[in-house]
Amino acid sequence: MNSKRGRIDRFLASRLQVPSKQAQQWIRQGEVLLDGERCRSVDIIINEFSRIECRGELLQSLTPAYWLLHKPAGVVSATSDAEHQTALSLLPEIAQTQQLHIAGRLDKYTTGLLLLTNDSRWSEAIAQPSASKRKHYRVTLQNPLTDAYISAFRDGFYFDFEGITTAPAELTIISDYVADVVLTEGKYHQIKRMFGRFRNPVVALHRYQVGQIVLDDSLPEGQARLLTAEEIASVG
Ligand code: URA
Repeated sequence: MNSKRGRIDRFLASRLQVPSKQAQQWIRQGEVLLDGERCRSVDIIINEFSRIECRGELLQSLTPAYWLLHKPAGVVSATSDAEHQTALSLLPEIAQTQQLHIAGRLDKYTTGLLLLTNDSRWSEAIAQPSASKRKHYRVTLQNPLTDAYISAFRDGFYFDFEGITTAPAELTIISDYVADVVLTEGKYHQIKRMFGRFRNPVVALHRYQVGQIVLDDSLPEGQARLLTAEEIASVG
């Protein structure tokens, strides 16, 4: 999801399907309200939370929203899908009107912490590879783990398709078949591909923390809650 920042005249032209010159004329004539005030500048930068009215018509009015879903297996990280149940469909009715998108997808059979928001800057910040946005996973494997995994995950794996080496990842062995993995990035099927290098299929994958945001033990699968102000602010 790209940031929704842009010039107000371009927003009006695209939203109302008129030439930019027409949009600019309405702005100059005082026909456009930005956050309740007359907008006098054609090139002012707006975002998805700017309230915009033009000639008495409300064109945009959105309040920032941040949700945490305990994603069950079998649900796709999407807001719409013709075939599968979506993460958005599990959220309360109010969320259906909030123009949410997924901030950091999980695969269909991965469970755990999934974030949804309508704030594109915030979701971009979550996606930035960074030590402060560490993603924590509990992984169950088909074959036993050995200490060799720890150094391999730390050293990184070359991914041919993207032409990159994965950033150092922390792997902690919990038991013969269970490990905790902490990533600072999110490549496509990253954990499965990393264990794939050992020909060790992932049997279950569960994300329980992103940065400071922790999946509550008390939140049942399929249930969602709003993030707290502290959790929202922790994604800097
Ligand atoms: N890595 C994966 O392979 N799948 C996920 O859903 C998340 C990380």
